[in-house]
Amino acid sequence: MPVITSIEDLKRLHQRRTPRMFYDYAESGSYTEQTFSENVSDFSKIRLRQKVAVDMSDRYTGGTMLGENVTMPVALAPVGFTGMQSADGEIKAARAAEAFGVPFTLSTMSICSIEDVAAHTTKPFWFQLYVMRDEEFVDNIIERAKRAGCSALVLTLDLQILGQRHKDLKNGLSAPPRLTIPNIINMATKPQWCMGMLGTKRRSFGNIVGHAKGVGDLSSLTSWTNEQFDPKLDWDKIARIREKWGGKLVLKGVLDADDARRAADFGADAIVVSNHGGRQLDGALSSIRILPSVVRAVKGQTEIWIDSGIRSGQDVLKAIAMGADAAMIGRAYIYGLGAMGQQGVTKALQVIQKELDITMALCGERDIRNLGAHNLLVPQDFEGNWA
Ligand SMILES: Cc1cc2nc3c(=O)[nH]c(=O)nc-3n(C[C@H](O)[C@H](O)[C@H](O)COP(=O)(O)O)c2cc1C
Repeated sequence: MPVITSIEDLKRLHQRRTPRMFYDYAESGSYTEQTFSENVSDFSKIRLRQKVAVDMSDRYTGGTMLGENVTMPVALAPVGFTGMQSADGEIKAARAAEAFGVPFTLSTMSICSIEDVAAHTTKPFWFQLYVMRDEEFVDNIIERAKRAGCSALVLTLDLQILGQRHKDLKNGLSAPPRLTIPNIINMATKPQWCMGMLGTKRRSFGNIVGHAKGVGDLSSLTSWTNEQFDPKLDWDKIARIREKWGGKLVLKGVLDADDARRAADFGADAIVVSNHGGRQLDGALSSIRILPSVVRAVKGQTEIWIDSGIRSGQDVLKAIAMGADAAMIGRAYIYGLGAMGQQGVTKALQVIQKELDITMALCGERDIRNLGAHNLLVPQDFEGNWA
């Protein structure tokens, strides 16, 4: 087994072991990919304040998210097509998360269905909802999530229309992949992946197939999103969904202090400061640059989580010290899954926790709950002075 010391190592293995169209699907942003790359590079502009001669024994990285105990305040974000990165990927990721003690969020666009993931795990997971035009389908999938015991609904607000990712169009992204000559040649170089896929029946969108009426070309994400996602999603519709769901509600994709206020006033249990990992509005600011304004607006009123660009425990520490209550990771665990299946997701979580723990110690902190602005060196113009 290769020695893995960072998320970057997992990313390299993911690229080597998974068909190009799925690696590219994960590793892209929309249009010019400016927001996608700044999500990562903006984290590196924040520096850490070193402290010496302080007791750094018995450290604690735990906490709660929505009242659930977590080993560290980091949840696995919803990611579509996860079961194409590795056979039965959602089940593998959910099991790794459960064993590690962090929450797993299942995407509407998953390959393994809600029921399937529930049958292969023992603790409740979270379900992410994309709102479709077909209200009956939406009501039905909410019921299914309830029946499966999901403990929170994560409602994604920033993808009612798909931001274009050039590589997906060029690669003809689909689940399962079409058996074209270039795809066959590429898959032939990924024997482990092929063996996994041959050994499972889960190769299409498990939450949708057999549940949605009048579904057109489901294998094409673009045409399916255009046909099915509800572009009229607004606060009234969100209220309707909250009523149907009746449980903990997380609003994901907030990237503006006014929207954060609206979400907090609405009574969201948590908001996720997110630009969908740079996959939607290219040209938007990175999540970490928006975070301080959201913290000023709604800290204490709702839980503030952040995602987009987190690739290390240092990044998690920076986000928490800036005022986030928790973080979500997308690609960081997907690299692990594509690299080494369930073991790889566990590895990604271990890498991040270890980095978080050691970095906390070197900052002179023993308890993650004590992190704050005093641990950071932030350039004065970090948030930017935008007209
Ligand atoms: C390959 C991929 C697929 C995604 N699919 C979904 C999805 O189905 N639902 C959703 O709400 N967010 C989705 N996201 C966004 C993630 O939940 C999360 O916001 C993002 O990955 C965070 O950025 P990071 O990858 O830099 O950590 C997806 C992200 C990636 C990379």
